[in-house]
Amino acid sequence: MVNYKDLGLVNTREMFKRAINGGWAVPAFNFNNMEQLQAIIMASSETKSPVILQVSKGARNYANQTLLRYMAQGAVEYAKELGCEHPEIVLHLDHGDSFELCKSCVDFGFSSVMIDGSSLPYDENVALTAKVVEYAHKYDVTVEGELGVLAGVEDEVASEESHYTKPEEVIDFTSKTGVDSLAISIGTSHGAYKFKPEQCTRDPKTGRLVPPPLAFDVLDEVMVKLPGFPIVLHGSSSVPQEYVDIINSNGGKLPDAVGIPEEQLRKAAKSAVCKINIDSDSRLAFTAAVRRVFAEKPGEFDPRKYCGPAREEMVKMYKHKIINVLGSDNKLAQ
Ligand code: G3H
Ligand code: 13P
Ligand code: ZN
Repeated sequence: MVNYKDLGLVNTREMFKRAINGGWAVPAFNFNNMEQLQAIIMASSETKSPVILQVSKGARNYANQTLLRYMAQGAVEYAKELGCEHPEIVLHLDHGDSFELCKSCVDFGFSSVMIDGSSLPYDENVALTAKVVEYAHKYDVTVEGELGVLAGVEDEVASEESHYTKPEEVIDFTSKTGVDSLAISIGTSHGAYKFKPEQCTRDPKTGRLVPPPLAFDVLDEVMVKLPGFPIVLHGSSSVPQEYVDIINSNGGKLPDAVGIPEEQLRKAAKSAVCKINIDSDSRLAFTAAVRRVFAEKPGEFDPRKYCGPAREEMVKMYKHKIINVLGSDNKLAQ
């Protein structure tokens, strides 16, 4: 058993309180490799932002859980080396799908876990989430639950209301489970294809897809039911079109990739939404930079020569999110 406090990590409780009261949101960036982790720590340290390092089940399998724990511990030390005397870094399990996985992460030094029972029948979601909370809270590990189903890439009815979180369930769910935060569904979804072209309009000047607005009415109703309760938004990448263009003009193929417009995320960050999940934008920044190097220098085969530029691009992107979208810069407690 490794306790996250011994690794210099923190849970989400205090930062979420400050984020809600201050009208900003904590960035939750997924990572799978060293360059992503370096870029996240460089960006959050330089901007003095609290940060959530997210690890999915797939990332945990890819990177190895022991290595991940030491990488997170190393991240705390690295942030200090970069001049951030008191970094606030959370190591969070993203989309945990079983009690066993959540328990294993708690036992392995994670400071926060998500138990995603959103695809289960309501009562089963409640029972599973409550069981994870009971275990995690013994070690002061915070827990995120989810209500409502995020549309999948192949889903025929991607933004139909039936997927949205039902505001009438949130009081019962949070009180029965004891979760510390709640992920809700208001029209965001995972990946680089968040809406089908037929759900969007087109900007007549640029020909770009313009996605439909998020269901802020659902968020408003949730906030009325649960005043001051920490709300989480998954699937919040903006899919920057400049990355899509670089990828497409250098041998890639991402037709009609579209994300959540940043002004909608800015609006969400000012509300009770205090954690915003971003993964795809990092993948796009990385891939765009690598494809550009390969196109310009076909003879390059030193990974540092293409992963280095990829890291630089990710730092730029993360800093932009922190400063211009989430407003979490200069928000460390001390
Ligand atoms: O929620 C999904 C995250 O983007 C993680 O994706 O399962 O491919 O690591 P992954
Ligand atoms: P994106 O695919 O929009 O980056 O969402 C990531 C996410 O929600 C991770 O849990
Ligand atoms: Zn997610």
